[in-house]
Amino acid sequence: MVVSKSWTMVKHFDGEPKPEDFKLIEKELPPLQDGEILLESVFLSVDPYMRPYSGRLMKEGDVMIGSQVGRVIESKNSAFPVGVYCVANMGWTTHFISNGKELNPLPSEWPESLPRSLALGTVGMPGLTAYFGFLEICNPKEGDVVLVNCAAGAVGSIVGQIAKLKGCKVVGSAGSDDKIQFLKDIGFDEAFNYKKVGSLEEALKKASPEGYDCYFENVGGKFSDAAVPQMKDFGRISVCGVISMYNDAVPPSGPYIQPLILFKQLRMEGFIVTRWKDRFVEGQKQLLQWVLEGKVKYREHITKGFENMPKGFMGMLKGENTGKAIIQV
Ligand SMILES: NC(=O)c1ccc[n+]([C@@H]2O[C@H](COP(=O)([O-])OP(=O)(O)OC[C@H]3O[C@@H](n4cnc5c(N)ncnc54)[C@H](OP(=O)(O)O)[C@@H]3O)[C@@H](O)[C@H]2O)c1
Repeated sequence: MVVSKSWTMVKHFDGEPKPEDFKLIEKELPPLQDGEILLESVFLSVDPYMRPYSGRLMKEGDVMIGSQVGRVIESKNSAFPVGVYCVANMGWTTHFISNGKELNPLPSEWPESLPRSLALGTVGMPGLTAYFGFLEICNPKEGDVVLVNCAAGAVGSIVGQIAKLKGCKVVGSAGSDDKIQFLKDIGFDEAFNYKKVGSLEEALKKASPEGYDCYFENVGGKFSDAAVPQMKDFGRISVCGVISMYNDAVPPSGPYIQPLILFKQLRMEGFIVTRWKDRFVEGQKQLLQWVLEGKVKYREHITKGFENMPKGFMGMLKGENTGKAIIQV
């Protein structure tokens, strides 16, 4: 008999998620039926989307949404023998039973030298977000100036490195001096700590006096207010996330950007990464290859212990992570 532990959201988040919003529950799992597989979570992902989507997809008492890398520990399904690792979307839970339909086995060529947690980060959903959201929407050309915020995070750090591979000049912003050092180490041309600069406008102008061709938007709000006016004519803005606004109960009213979009002839497009799910294998192959060739570097922020999962989630939202925030069971 296996006991599965899960973190539930007892109360919808009001502003920032707080420790009392979460509750750990335990459940006995039934014996496996034919065709079923039992997996244990080895790594779990904590991501910003969990904050806004908790309000849309969850009711109070539900297990927190999320994905994990799980290892098959018992199997009555020959397609998933014991020992196989899969990405699953089973929420914040230690053990789960699956019929295999929703499981994505790690690529068979997964190199021993790489941690399997990368399947939740650089070679998983955040990496694919960077790959497709940047290349397909910003359509970067050699010599373009690219701006990315949340630049030291799971998505932003990959966007910046892909932009460098495409021959762009890359400017990044992040929330600590250590993160700025990390950005310089992975090849960003310019980087600034948005919490320390007196004026975002001036920091953006200093980093690229001629303006920006591409803007990969992860933050929204005041950052966007400062950045959009600095786009060059025919600039492209890929709206990936608006993390500075996820805790707002009432959306703030900001400057109206339509005149900027009109007179600078900008293109601004939001996306959800699953738009490209038919091409995920292609993206994953490319990202894995770049990582193995050392062309894309990765950093992970590992929180140890399933019991610390809410802490890891709240810490990520506050900026404690450099690179992908991961929970190691
Ligand atoms: N559209 C999609 O399909 C899709 C998919 C994945 C992710 N996303 C979005 O991509 C963005 C980055 O996600 P990620 O997984 O890569 O997370 P991440 O950057 O690894 O972690 C979140 C980071 O957000 C920053 N942050 C928190 N509050 C902020 C604020 N008020 N202003 C500026 N920065 C703030 C913190 O870094 P600092 O220390 O720099 O503040 C924190 O480390 C998020 O907006 C997320 O929703 C979208």
